[in-house]
Amino acid sequence: MAVVAIAGGLGAPGATTVAMALLMTWPLPEGHRVVLAEADPDGGAILPGALQGTLGNTHGLRHLAVAGRQGQLGEAFWRQLVDVTDAGSRDRLVLPGLYDPAHASAMEPVWKPLAGLFSGIEEHGHDVLVDLGRRGAVGSSAVLAQRADAVVVVARNTLRGLQSADLRLKALREVLGGAGEVGVLLVDEGPYSKDEVRKRLEVPVTAVLPWRPKDAKVLSDGAEPPRRFESGELMRAARSAAVRVQELVAIRRSRLAPPPPGPVAAGGVNGAR
Ligand SMILES: Nc1ncnc2c1ncn2[C@@H]1O[C@H](COP(=O)(O)OP(=O)(O)O)[C@@H](O)[C@H]1O
Ligand SMILES: [Mg+2]
Repeated sequence: MAVVAIAGGLGAPGATTVAMALLMTWPLPEGHRVVLAEADPDGGAILPGALQGTLGNTHGLRHLAVAGRQGQLGEAFWRQLVDVTDAGSRDRLVLPGLYDPAHASAMEPVWKPLAGLFSGIEEHGHDVLVDLGRRGAVGSSAVLAQRADAVVVVARNTLRGLQSADLRLKALREVLGGAGEVGVLLVDEGPYSKDEVRKRLEVPVTAVLPWRPKDAKVLSDGAEPPRRFESGELMRAARSAAVRVQELVAIRRSRLAPPPPGPVAAGGVNGAR
């Protein structure tokens, strides 16, 4: 169980699309749930995009700003979640982002308690994916990245995409101060290989997602799924990306775990006089 932050960058590399793909493919043991929180201070895309405006502005982060001021963040959080499963099983849920970026200032005091809430709900068998948006790791919402078990930066392997990811990673390193596991999720639009990207960005490439505009539009814009969408290359890659991201979290957890007890020295517990 984990909190995973997903960072975008200049030029909309596909952070929200990747976050939605991970949400839909995240491995869920019996009784577990996964929540995607669209915490982009520049405004969210899920309400008008994947959810096709069907909910208006009735749900989302904006409502948490009000609840946060009234000290009711915990209760309000659950009410703002939208089920995105076809079967209505409520095990894949979205907290839609701000519909108006002007509301970001109202969120300033809320990011920190929200980050605490995300880390706390894993006890209830929940994983949380946090879409940090384009600049979410700087300023007051940086706490979301700091409290995450792993941060993945979504980057396209074009010259422009790598330049943007490089800046984003530098900002993240400053915010994380060496703590936290960082990886790159590559959207394979451009010419650079996984190895070239790793060398250029000095960060491991956690997974590669293929360039599939029609499939991506299902996730980013709520488009009608093309035939064999679920078994298509994008969702297949997302499935293995989700497993790789979980491995990144496991690495982090094992680093933080206390070292196993060493052999009992002579004169220790049993030999105590
Ligand atoms: N793997 C992909 N293949 C093709 N197009 C993609 C892919 N991922 C994202 N896109 C497209 O890129 C655009 C921006 O995606 P979005 O997720 O909104 O970016 P961000 O959240 O980083 O601003 C959307 O039109 C989306 O359909
Ligand atoms: Mg986005």
